[in-house]
Amino acid sequence: MDRRDFLLRTGIMLASASAYSFGESMKPLIEGKSEKIALVYGTRYGAAEDTAQWIAKGMDTDNVDVLNIENINFDETVQKYDKFIIGSGIWIDGAHKQLMKLLSEHTAVMESKIIASFIVCGTTGEDEAGKGRIEGYFKRFHKPLTVKPKMQRHFGGRMIIEKLSEKDRKLLDNFYKNVLKKEFVSWDRTKPEMAEKFGVELLTKSVSV
Ligand SMILES: Cc1cc2nc3c(=O)[nH]c(=O)nc-3n(C[C@H](O)[C@H](O)[C@H](O)COP(=O)(O)O)c2cc1C
Repeated sequence: MDRRDFLLRTGIMLASASAYSFGESMKPLIEGKSEKIALVYGTRYGAAEDTAQWIAKGMDTDNVDVLNIENINFDETVQKYDKFIIGSGIWIDGAHKQLMKLLSEHTAVMESKIIASFIVCGTTGEDEAGKGRIEGYFKRFHKPLTVKPKMQRHFGGRMIIEKLSEKDRKLLDNFYKNVLKKEFVSWDRTKPEMAEKFGVELLTKSVSV
């Protein structure tokens, strides 16, 4: 039995056990090897892309395609895949505009196929204010959807000053100095192992239906 089979079987066993205990019908998020899964991300500076790749690594399957929202044909993509995981970096104006467009233009199909969403941002969620901000980012990200993704996760991103566009650098320089009143320095809060773990969870998670 390879690792994926083991994870799938464990997921199915857990699902059956939970359904038995609680009298609910449980179903694995990912139902089998034949399902084609698209992991669609929106990025500006690469952390959301790296995070998508780490999640896919955790899922350990050939059935996942990691796709940049800027390189896909919406009509083809929504038809081609059985399940979607969507993720985006967060900037002042929210998630990636193209990803928001995909959700707005293909709402019915997308909400029936999205199993999970993730955001990559600077906010850590370590305190109540941060938790509230993250909740707000998800709310805005999911706004076009009437059915929310069954799994959601936030991950730390990164900001490397030398890599920012001039417009973003000026905006953030001003924000750090005048709003946060902190020194404007580069930071990296990405954690590959957390994203990989989320990929494993996606493969083993069962949900009530
Ligand atoms: C212009 C700009 C605005 C940002 N605004 C926010 C914000 O409002 N809240 C937040 O938590 N992080 C914010 N960040 C941090 C980003 O979410 C972080 O850099 C993330 O890694 C971006 O994803 P990417 O690397 O895939 O582009 C901002 C970053 C930039 C460059």
